[in-house]
Amino acid sequence: MSFVPSPIPFAADSGPSRRFCVAPMMDWTTPHFRYLARVLSRRALLYTEMVTTGALIHGDTERFLRHDPSEYPLALQLGGSHAGELAHCAKLAQQFGFDEVNLNVGCPSDRVQNNMIGACLMGHPDKVAEGVAAMIAATDLPVTVKHRIGINGRESWDELCEFIETVAAAGCKTFIVHARIAILEGLSPKENRDIPPLKYDWVYRLKQAYPHLEIIINGGIKTFEDCHEHLAHTDGVMLGREAYHNPWLLADVDTEFFGEPAPVTSRHDALRAMFPFIQQELDRGVYLTHMTRHIMGLFLGQPGGRQFRRHLSENANKPGSGLEVVEQALAKVREPELITES
Ligand SMILES: Cc1cc2nc3c(=O)[nH]c(=O)nc-3n(C[C@H](O)[C@H](O)[C@H](O)COP(=O)(O)O)c2cc1C
Repeated sequence: MSFVPSPIPFAADSGPSRRFCVAPMMDWTTPHFRYLARVLSRRALLYTEMVTTGALIHGDTERFLRHDPSEYPLALQLGGSHAGELAHCAKLAQQFGFDEVNLNVGCPSDRVQNNMIGACLMGHPDKVAEGVAAMIAATDLPVTVKHRIGINGRESWDELCEFIETVAAAGCKTFIVHARIAILEGLSPKENRDIPPLKYDWVYRLKQAYPHLEIIINGGIKTFEDCHEHLAHTDGVMLGREAYHNPWLLADVDTEFFGEPAPVTSRHDALRAMFPFIQQELDRGVYLTHMTRHIMGLFLGQPGGRQFRRHLSENANKPGSGLEVVEQALAKVREPELITES
């Protein structure tokens, strides 16, 4: 694989590289998945699941912000719209060691809409700007926004530009753009990730219109070929579902996008590198199945991969299951021959 530098330099001058990002995904980008992602790539920027300001302020803050230092670079994604609460949570992000704090303006779920969280905020650029300004004032971390190209009823190019300009005027320099609108009534969150058509050209146009802003493109990106195509027009790519379902893809990210050696050379080594972490979590009382559900994709398409997954599904949820279940599952997939030079 060859290293093809982006023709466009990064626009933002602070924070971690966003050339290749793994998207925030509720219930998926948990600390356990992120640990695997980090074993596979040192350079991909990882995002937490969204955590609402209400949960952080009134709930178990430590639990929501818990992460392993090996996960860095790591961005915390917040859901909220109250400027004071966002500022408070941005401060917490810094105290807990995150590298970036990101505001969710893309989630279409009814549950969050009722609390003025997520994609519905695209209809309120001033409110987003107020929140972003408060976050910027409260922290030294880069403050970024992840959003859609519009919402139903507010889906014109001019309205998108108005959103970007209003939020950029509040100090936001980095926009992560899911290249489809969200339809706020009648579609489930899952449908909202597939049905509204992708309009990559709109994201490219944003970069042309606002070259001083860092524009990261998201939505439907599956291969490195796709990534390079997008990197010719934007500053970075963000992959969600493909990175989760086929995490081994991440093992080539450091070489492909950063010209650095890959941290691991086999899926077996990657999983073995997780053993001490899995044991540490088991010792803390975490159920094995809460961890193994995030490593199911590691042997996707490999001989024995199905048996690996079946062994984990059938055994990891049994009471008292430990690392031996992962070792047994691993033994079901053939280890690549070690290539030795004579
Ligand atoms: C299970 C799941 C949960 C998600 N949760 C979040 C979330 O918490 N915050 C967010 O901004 N986007 C969330 N998303 C959207 C993704 O970040 C991403 O924008 C979307 O999946 C499109 O990218 P993809 O086609 O590469 O998956 C979620 C997606 C999935 C599949």
